[in-house]
Amino acid sequence: MSQDSKDIDNLSSSAAAETGGILAIESSCDETSASICRDGKILSNIIAGQKVHEQYGGVVPELASRAHIQNIIPVVDQAIRLANENLKSAIVNLKSIDAIAFTQSPGLIGSLLIGSQFAKSLALSLNKPLIAVHHMQAHVLANLIDDPKPSFPFLCLTVSGGHTQIVLCESPAKMKVIGETIDDAAGEAFDKTAKLLGLPYPGGPLIDKYAKDGNPHRFQFPEPQIPGLDFSFSGLKTSILYFLQNAGKSHVYKEEFLATENEKNKFIQENLNDLCASVQQRIVSILLNKLKKASIETGIKDICIAGGVSANSGLRKAFEETGKKNNWNTFIPAFEYCTDNAAMIAITAYYKFLDGQFSDLTVSASARAEW
Ligand code: KG4
Ligand code: ZN
Repeated sequence: MSQDSKDIDNLSSSAAAETGGILAIESSCDETSASICRDGKILSNIIAGQKVHEQYGGVVPELASRAHIQNIIPVVDQAIRLANENLKSAIVNLKSIDAIAFTQSPGLIGSLLIGSQFAKSLALSLNKPLIAVHHMQAHVLANLIDDPKPSFPFLCLTVSGGHTQIVLCESPAKMKVIGETIDDAAGEAFDKTAKLLGLPYPGGPLIDKYAKDGNPHRFQFPEPQIPGLDFSFSGLKTSILYFLQNAGKSHVYKEEFLATENEKNKFIQENLNDLCASVQQRIVSILLNKLKKASIETGIKDICIAGGVSANSGLRKAFEETGKKNNWNTFIPAFEYCTDNAAMIAITAYYKFLDGQFSDLTVSASARAEW
């Protein structure tokens, strides 16, 4: 018997005093994750990252799909085991769960297909209802996992590797994007800057780390003037590129190519902390200025952040400070629910379950889908 089939046997073994719950699977990009949620409480959230992409400076879709295939059974197995460790008087297993949820969209199609086909196969073989979840809706609803929770209607700034949105959330099911990026996402701004600085992928957490010891006011990068509640980050990236090519000399934001490769690298090495702090400060100010505008325009003061970039310590701190100044009730998901995770899929599925929003087996993954 192969290791995989032994694992499947473990997953399926039943026991006395069984209880229900939702099994959720997330595989939209380069994290394989599974979570068990019961009555709106997260019992486990297992996340397997994929180190293989670091050497390529970005996620390689084919390698991500292969890693999901390797990870998915052990990750689901561990999620069920951990849920049982956290449950005192009952046991959850594949036979006792009430529904199976998965990320349907958006993401890398190969990655999404692994999670969706796995979830559909389980649903078919166990005769369980299936719940398809939109990844961006789930990032927003990560704010409903722990107490205190925001009251409806609330605003959510969702900042990830692929999206930057301000979402007006009237209920778990009723959400409207009222502002979004017209080019790069905030996470891309972090990752592309990191690449220019010679840092490995994903660069966001590294910029966060170096920024802690840097002066955020040392270098002044321009803030784009975009109408309404939309964002733009591509101009910032270009200004950083030219600034580095000029090794911090005059005419900083123009393409003058004053420096040699050695001069540029020396400048980066000697100023890494200040460069990271200054770029981070500008990305954060772009985000929070639009969020302030959204709060004024809507009159809403329950305000959340979500998505991978909401793990950024500079953004978290500045968000709290802005909230205090403007009398907002601020909410930030726990660290493990900011970057991609299945707990946010599980909590979204919980609300869909209560609403009776199920999918049939013809549902398919989609790289892009409206919500
Ligand atoms: O939500 P997420 O995990 O995946 C997507 O749905 O895209 O977000 C990933 C993004 C990456 O761009 C990563 O660099 C960024 O979140 N990120 C951070 C931090 N942690 C993750 N950016 C800045 N500071 C961080 N601490
Ligand atoms: Zn995400």
